[in-house]
Amino acid sequence: MTQLPGLLDTEAIRKDFPILDRLVHDDRKLVYLDNAATSQKPRQVLDALSEYYERYNANVHRGVHVLAEEATALYEGARDKVAAFINAPSRDEVIFTKNASESLNLVANMLGWADEPYRVDSETEIVITEMEHHSNIVPWQLLAQRTGAKLKWFGLTDDGRLDLSNIDEIITERTKIVSFVLVSNILGTVNPVETIIRRAQEVGALVCIDASQAAPHMPLDVQALQADFVAFTGHKMCGPTGIGVLWGRQELLEDLPPFLGGGEMIETVSMHSSTYAPAPHKFEAGTPPIAQAVGLGAAIDYLNSIGMDKILAHEHALTEYAVRRLAEVPDLRIIGPTTAEDRGAAISFTLGDIHPHDVGQVLDEQGIAVRVGHHCARPVCLRYGIPATTRASFYLYSTPAEIDALVDGLEHVRNFFG
Ligand code: ALA
Repeated sequence: MTQLPGLLDTEAIRKDFPILDRLVHDDRKLVYLDNAATSQKPRQVLDALSEYYERYNANVHRGVHVLAEEATALYEGARDKVAAFINAPSRDEVIFTKNASESLNLVANMLGWADEPYRVDSETEIVITEMEHHSNIVPWQLLAQRTGAKLKWFGLTDDGRLDLSNIDEIITERTKIVSFVLVSNILGTVNPVETIIRRAQEVGALVCIDASQAAPHMPLDVQALQADFVAFTGHKMCGPTGIGVLWGRQELLEDLPPFLGGGEMIETVSMHSSTYAPAPHKFEAGTPPIAQAVGLGAAIDYLNSIGMDKILAHEHALTEYAVRRLAEVPDLRIIGPTTAEDRGAAISFTLGDIHPHDVGQVLDEQGIAVRVGHHCARPVCLRYGIPATTRASFYLYSTPAEIDALVDGLEHVRNFFG
């Protein structure tokens, strides 16, 4: 078995993930390399979810009975865990949403309804990048259309990095918000946050970071990042679907208006007007994703028990191995950085002129799960003149043997298509 320095004890870790033992297509061992789409869930998270429903289920912040109080304590306890996980100065800066898309839409809509000094109008510029997930493009397009603001973006270099050569022309005195991804879901690129934030701060622009592909894979410290908003999702970090997080700086959350109205986000309501609860509740209208937050809390406990530094080192070792092994496959072109430096563990590639959907299907027949398509980042495919890519992405339970299986599987694909 291939041994690489920095690898976790995957034999032990994999025992926590029941799904990794299953067979697909009758007798094929599952090789799950679609972790950037969603991660698998350890027994500890599955148990926390069923325990919640078996013992504590009630609505939160509403009841005086035991279950309501216990459910509230569990839900708010999950907020504490998230706050500690990202080193937030205050638990009140952690807003639960349903996913990272909702978190990013929330930021765009907070600004969309805001008065000065945050007001976005036809004098304003919004800055994103060409490597964003659609969830960090479309909300800003909608905001720009509604307000007349100008949408600008950083382009990409041929090797899949941000082209910051014109940073002073892209981020200007008119820029109100710069929103960009920390780790690209399609290219794997880890972006130079400091350089971008420094320029944004020079012009007094707010910064929003999409950390969906970072939070599961590396230590995330919102104070060190110095952004104003950080969005991520639970299901990519061993948690359930239906739970996302928006972290925002406290004074901004106090100043900015709510987006969704409803129960629990108010202080008082009359038929004429309402006043709002303080953050984070101001931004959590309606019954929140309670069990999902509890599941995310269990996922955070699980990740902490392994150690985010160790998870990062494991994935770095796997990524180094993967780029080396994939380079041996004839006609394979990595779309994105071709070395493991400043890149995460999602690797997109094309294989000659075989369509990625065909690649994915023949891999699937061998039990190998990858994602194919434009990965909700279609402008990246347009930039590189390709219709789609095949993407393999790793996590804490991934092994070098699975990368070997991928490489063998790709050989099979090439033989299959002649
Ligand atoms: N955003 C997820 C991905 O990149 C779904 O696959």
